Amino acid sequence: MRAHEAGALHAEGYGGPPLYLPYPEDVNALLPQLWARTVHRGEDGALRVGGLDVRSIAAEFGTPAYVLDEEDFRSRARAFRDDYAGPFAEVCGGADVYYAGKAFLCTEVARWVADEGLGLDVTTGGELAVAQRAGFPAERIALHGNNKSLAEIEQALSYGVGKIVIDSLDEIERIDAVAARLGVVAPVMIRVTVGVEAHTHEFIATAHEDQKFGLSLATGVAKEAAGRVLDRTGTMRLLGLHSHIGSQIFDTGGFEISVRRLIGLHAELVREHDIELPSMGLGGGFGIAYTSQHTPLSPAELGEQMADLLEREGKIIGDGDGSSIPRISIEPGRAIVGPAAFTLYEVGTVKPVTVNERVTRTYVSVDGGMSDNIRPALYEADYSCTLASRRSDAPPMLSRVVGKHCESGDIVVLDEYLPADLRAGDLIAVPGTGAYCRSLSSQYNHTPRPPVVAVRDGRARLIVRRETVEDILALDVG
Ligand code: LLP
Repeated sequence: MRAHEAGALHAEGYGGPPLYLPYPEDVNALLPQLWARTVHRGEDGALRVGGLDVRSIAAEFGTPAYVLDEEDFRSRARAFRDDYAGPFAEVCGGADVYYAGKAFLCTEVARWVADEGLGLDVTTGGELAVAQRAGFPAERIALHGNNKSLAEIEQALSYGVGKIVIDSLDEIERIDAVAARLGVVAPVMIRVTVGVEAHTHEFIATAHEDQKFGLSLATGVAKEAAGRVLDRTGTMRLLGLHSHIGSQIFDTGGFEISVRRLIGLHAELVREHDIELPSMGLGGGFGIAYTSQHTPLSPAELGEQMADLLEREGKIIGDGDGSSIPRISIEPGRAIVGPAAFTLYEVGTVKPVTVNERVTRTYVSVDGGMSDNIRPALYEADYSCTLASRRSDAPPMLSRVVGKHCESGDIVVLDEYLPADLRAGDLIAVPGTGAYCRSLSSQYNHTPRPPVVAVRDGRARLIVRRETVEDILALDVG
């Protein structure tokens, strides 16, 4: 588990800025690793994205709005497809990349993913319905979930998804029943709890023993599950083992242990049942930069390191020449869509608050908040932001960007320097909000959810429209 993300702040004890946030030389400067690739400050000082001025995006679509850079999204998808997968070619014939739709999914994004040749990982009937509406190729879809309903299993098998990742012994019976009724053979993987403590926030670590996902390797339940699946040749075909160790992970140490343990079980199954298991899933979880404290590896670096460790650990398989190392699949969500979007807010109330005799913090209220980004409240996640609608020569002031909801924990950016002349009507942009912001959004305080605006080559278009108060009232049938 990662230390408290606001640790530096608390440690200092003065209410001052955290260690990762130095007093900026230029408050207008953008840290490139935080932003979608087409984002830059124009001559006039306002941000541009996809060739468009953020002021015109705000004027046309309103604020708050998630602004998604299509070219950036596609280039990150391609980087995983080519640069990440490349090093696996010699080790195991390649790597298949599934975009994890839970990070953010709508029909247009599903089409981009299909277009770039990636697979799609879905977790519910709802996410699968989006894929179906987009006409996503069924054989490139993987269905996850720790409590798939019979209806979801039927939806997946009827559409012909490429794999269902089994998460419990109960689920084996459910898939067996549905597949028998439909007269199909379900391609399945088994999600293994490999017992790795991923170095991330406790709420997003997923492969230690005491949590709800997967089947335990240590206690033999995963092996038991594999045996049961292999007994049901009429309704199930075992493709291999799968694990996902957590999210927002910055090194490959956890993956190394996970690969070693998966390969161990894989080899046992192949030997004892005299079978071929063609694939192995290593999940997603690759971290991104939200502030200067985060330094993620590139897809190419990740690919090289992970292919290397697969080659090393895979030596125990077969004749020891690595010839039957299973083909790898991964499921990055955040690392593809996270940096591709930012949230555009309009500034309202600006309120300086005296924290102590040394520190004044300016609370900057924006027209959204925890309803469009719950991550700071849920995971103590840090973000950063910049004044987007103009350049400023005013000195930097220590700020906290907060939302408009009725909670003091309604924080968008815990610590940031913004120019001292910030005022109502200015636009600010928060980068890195492409993943797990729209998808975790709520209507708290009856706040309509913001739209998602896709930009590319000087054109902006709505791909998810803004919710309205009428939409919310329409659900209220009392
Ligand atoms: N594969 C599986 C089986 C997963 O459970 C997840 C994420 C992924 C892939 C994609 O992980 P990614 O590459 O996006 O990190 N709401 C949390 C993250 C929850 C992740 C859930 N599973 C957050 O906002 O940090």
